[in-house]
Amino acid sequence: EYIKELRDISYLENRLEKILGIETVNLVNGAVPSGDLKAEIGRMASQLLQREIRNGDILAVTGGTTLAEVASEMTYSTEPKDVTVVPGRGGLSEDVEIQANTIAAEIAKKLGGSYHLLHIPDNMAEENIYHVTKEPTIKRTLEILKQANILIHGVGTAADMAARRGMKENEIKDLLKAGAVGEAFGFYFNSEGEIIYSTTSVGLNLNDLQAISKVIVVAGGENKAEAIISAVSSKYQDILITDEITARKIISLK
Ligand code: F6P
Repeated sequence: EYIKELRDISYLENRLEKILGIETVNLVNGAVPSGDLKAEIGRMASQLLQREIRNGDILAVTGGTTLAEVASEMTYSTEPKDVTVVPGRGGLSEDVEIQANTIAAEIAKKLGGSYHLLHIPDNMAEENIYHVTKEPTIKRTLEILKQANILIHGVGTAADMAARRGMKENEIKDLLKAGAVGEAFGFYFNSEGEIIYSTTSVGLNLNDLQAISKVIVVAGGENKAEAIISAVSSKYQDILITDEITARKIISLK
């Protein structure tokens, strides 16, 4: 029975790799209470990071509850790693526990590495961004971020993320009417994978992702299936970590 389950999972992983066009999909077994799936995804991602991280690496992370699970599932390295962790975008509008800054610091501590933070709010006026990025500590973090060689990020539904970011109700309506289904690091995607809106923030741009040698995306939950389809593609990511139930949902939508 166990062998059959493993076979089913690797079959699903292959199907999803083909459908999304990305190199690797890793699935968490769906046979756990649904509330535990996020923690399982976090654990799988944390193990991947701990296995793959090398001295000299610069790791960029985003925020969210899934990334918070990644950080909390990580164990303390027995040997400190010469690794730098940075948040991928500014964005202080969410609860502190799930902000990219908090997650970057926790992961750095677990790895025995160092971190640099970005104390910048989301949705800053364009003209202020210019000045803020000239601030020495922010400038320094942004310079390090530009050299990131690993990125791990989350994906959310457009509706959830717009609300979490405090968008006004009529703006959310317009965004959804325009076709937004998914969100990742401030970019809203339609079901064709096109970007239809982005929040002004400082940090990584989608173009930067192509230069990062390993981009890992972590997201699960059937309600995120469409969002994952919209934001995940060979253009941006190399590895998707999700769960079996979400995988089946994605396949059913394709
Ligand atoms: O706000 C940061 C962020 O990484 C978003 O870009 C993403 O859509 C969201 O968090 C995912 O959050 P969660 O893992 O809580 O669904």
